[in-house]
Amino acid sequence: MPTVGSFPTSRHDIAGVSIAEIAQQFSTPTFVYDSAVIVERIEDLKSFDVIRYAQKACSNIAILDLARRNGVVVDAVSAGEIHRALRAGYQGGTNADGTHEIVYTADIFDQDALDLAVEHDIHVNCGSPDMIDQLGAVKRGAEITLRLNPGFGHGHSQKTNTGGQQSKHGIWYEQIEDCKQRAANHGITITGLHMHIGSGTDLEHLAQVCGAMEQAVREVGNTITTISAGGGLPVPYNSDQSYVDLDKYFTLWDQSRKKLEAELGNSIKLEIEPGRYLSAESGNLVTEIRAVKKMGENIFYLVDAGFNNLARPIMYGSYHPISVVAADDSPREDVEVVVGGPLCESGDIFTQEEGGFVSKRSLPQANVGEYLVLECAGAYGSVMGSNYNSKPLAAEVMIVDGLAHLIRERQSYDDLMRGERLLDT
Ligand code: LLP
Repeated sequence: MPTVGSFPTSRHDIAGVSIAEIAQQFSTPTFVYDSAVIVERIEDLKSFDVIRYAQKACSNIAILDLARRNGVVVDAVSAGEIHRALRAGYQGGTNADGTHEIVYTADIFDQDALDLAVEHDIHVNCGSPDMIDQLGAVKRGAEITLRLNPGFGHGHSQKTNTGGQQSKHGIWYEQIEDCKQRAANHGITITGLHMHIGSGTDLEHLAQVCGAMEQAVREVGNTITTISAGGGLPVPYNSDQSYVDLDKYFTLWDQSRKKLEAELGNSIKLEIEPGRYLSAESGNLVTEIRAVKKMGENIFYLVDAGFNNLARPIMYGSYHPISVVAADDSPREDVEVVVGGPLCESGDIFTQEEGGFVSKRSLPQANVGEYLVLECAGAYGSVMGSNYNSKPLAAEVMIVDGLAHLIRERQSYDDLMRGERLLDT
């Protein structure tokens, strides 16, 4: 298990590369990923038979390719994510060891996703009974996984809790028999079961999840060859938070797997499906301070990135570590500041709590033209970016062995309006 680092509020480099140089070369705002951190996080999980990256967390094809070259397979939740996986070198079908390189996990098929899944023989993790019939109608004899909702859930925010009756995700645990019937009608075999109960899981809760998985596997029977623990492994966004104890986490799942292997008499692979755990800590959003202004008692640092680039604070009140890149060695006192972006909306504040309450952060005194880094922004950062206020999507850069590589160009203004038309008349 990694140790929780400190979160200094002043820094000059990312993975040994000067932040000022990165900003000058690629401009700001730019996401900067340290590839070594992703590789380390992959290593942490090597006790699992299969690490399946939930690419929704950060789906740049260079990140997917890095994961692939480090033995990680991939999850796709849309036709777009299937295309990304294919572009990054993953293939449909099944590997020699029985692993599916790409799994499509969703609660519905849209037509594109269904067509792609059939065309590329992509294993489907069905999140609703209707998906079984829709797949069966175009492909007989497939093997599928069922994503189950065991009736309870957990999440770092109500918006990321994926279990229980209020959740739209997965197949209700009491409908397994119905799904077996539907599968049988189409010659489909249920070979996998999957539970992702929400982001931000804890160990007490996990024991309950494992118990629910055991029960579900017994109901399906010995066609099951894979169980998936889903994602949700937390990462610390500040020094009060911690990692989950990975040894205990693995042991709980491994015990369930072994118990089931003994009962069913076949071997069962154990998959994990992390998103945030692999990419969050590698990513930094590098911004430039464009205004330092006083509003009554409050000092605001206004930077050139907003919730169009990093939506987690406005959506969940999420805390991200922040650091300032001082341009000189002059002594800096800490000041209590509010950090906000350029958008024409008062919620465009990075230092806010759930419910939209603005909070302050103690940061070094800083000036216009200096850089400010929003850290732990590699998961659900760039992928949740938007063009709100007609802001181009940010550039993305990956640092490998001390060299900064551009992995996504900043969107141009032409890109921004691509596809839009003036009326002919
Ligand atoms: N597997 C499934 C089926 C999922 O729905 C998710 C996340 C994951 C794996 C990966 O979860 P992770 O390991 O990253 O926690 N936008 C929110 C998170 C939404 C998570 C959606 N599903 C955030 O910024 O915190």
